Amino acid sequence: MVLGVGGGIAAYKVCELLRRLTESGHRVRVVPTADALRFVGEPTWAALSGQPVATGVWDEVHEVPHVRIGQSADLVLVAPATANLLAKAAAGLADDLLTNTLLTARCPVVFAPAMHTEMWEHPATQANVATLRSRGAVVLDPAVGRLTGADTGRGRLPDPAELFEAARLVLRRGATRSDLAGRRVVVSAGGTREAIDPVRFLGNHSSGRQGYALARTAAARGADVTLVAANVSLPDPAGVRLVRVESAVELAEAMETERAGADAVVMSAAVADFRPVTSAASKIKKSGDAPAPIELVENPDILAGLVASRAREHTEQTIVGFAAETDDVIANGRAKLARKGCDLLVVNQVGGGRAFGTEDNQATVLGSDGSAVDIPTGPKEDLADRVWDLVVERLPG
Ligand code: CTP
Repeated sequence: MVLGVGGGIAAYKVCELLRRLTESGHRVRVVPTADALRFVGEPTWAALSGQPVATGVWDEVHEVPHVRIGQSADLVLVAPATANLLAKAAAGLADDLLTNTLLTARCPVVFAPAMHTEMWEHPATQANVATLRSRGAVVLDPAVGRLTGADTGRGRLPDPAELFEAARLVLRRGATRSDLAGRRVVVSAGGTREAIDPVRFLGNHSSGRQGYALARTAAARGADVTLVAANVSLPDPAGVRLVRVESAVELAEAMETERAGADAVVMSAAVADFRPVTSAASKIKKSGDAPAPIELVENPDILAGLVASRAREHTEQTIVGFAAETDDVIANGRAKLARKGCDLLVVNQVGGGRAFGTEDNQATVLGSDGSAVDIPTGPKEDLADRVWDLVVERLPG
């Protein structure tokens, strides 16, 4: 693969990304811009990659590197992609080895932009990003956090470990087109917590892994992804906009806001059906012999609410629910699909150590058209990709 490095301070983080890539067996040719070398020098890239490093088209001309490097790559990953580099790529300029490589590459191309928030938000940059996405490139939204200097905002390069994951997920799909490019998807993940008092809650065992796998795989397929996470302690996926919530009511509000204009909404969060009527302002103390009963009230059915919102707006949107069942899995799933009114219901059997907190998952995806697709036991990202395949089949246009 080709690792293009732009002239941004985040180039130092890319050394670790390079290390992860080579250690996992990839042959990586680093192609920095001349300005990138002002941040991290050529010997570092050469030593970490074990490959020659050049920035211009005039080195080793007999090997025609400006064409060959792009042609022979399985993936081109540009990190950090500066505003200048995105502009050049969108315009099709070819004034150094990296921009030439971007024009000759026929493999998937992933850009990981990093810059100050103002530069990222500028209409010029946003137009360039839209152009690149419309051509099938995966442009990962930058992360939010501390930027160079004292300011914070959107513009950070995602963590190297998460960039590595993003590259891995794009590579595992091979040369397949990024079929969610230009689509906006919203995924909920994790499990809600319903406060009893400031230190206690009613909750569930959901780790958020399946929802995070859905968000990561959608980003790798080019989607604009919003991940609404309820109490998940996993690393933030690269290129995904994260909204954090705790309770079912907060999750309902976030999903109602985010669903507007989305092409697909996936409810993989485990939602508490009930919440305490009141949450005590201070920690509840033991008093007497009998524990005080906790009076409960029903939470909104978020999934059914999303289906109702879609019906009100007459919008085309694919809505996917999840159901964890312990017995009569398919019969219960069919009844639930009909009750909720969504398009797809991913039903998996839980209990006995299955699904919650594990790396693997297995499911049957029931469709409102009567279809049933079995997904064998495998990594949660395999299941996620199969779900997106079924969503893509249902997307208009
Ligand atoms: N769900 C939701 N809002 C709720 C409960 C569930 O949006 N208040 C969603 C879940 O995110 C999931 C789907 O509905 O996508 C099915 O969740 P499940 O808990 O199996 O559904 P329930 O309606 O609670 O059914 P059950 O009576 O089996 O608990």
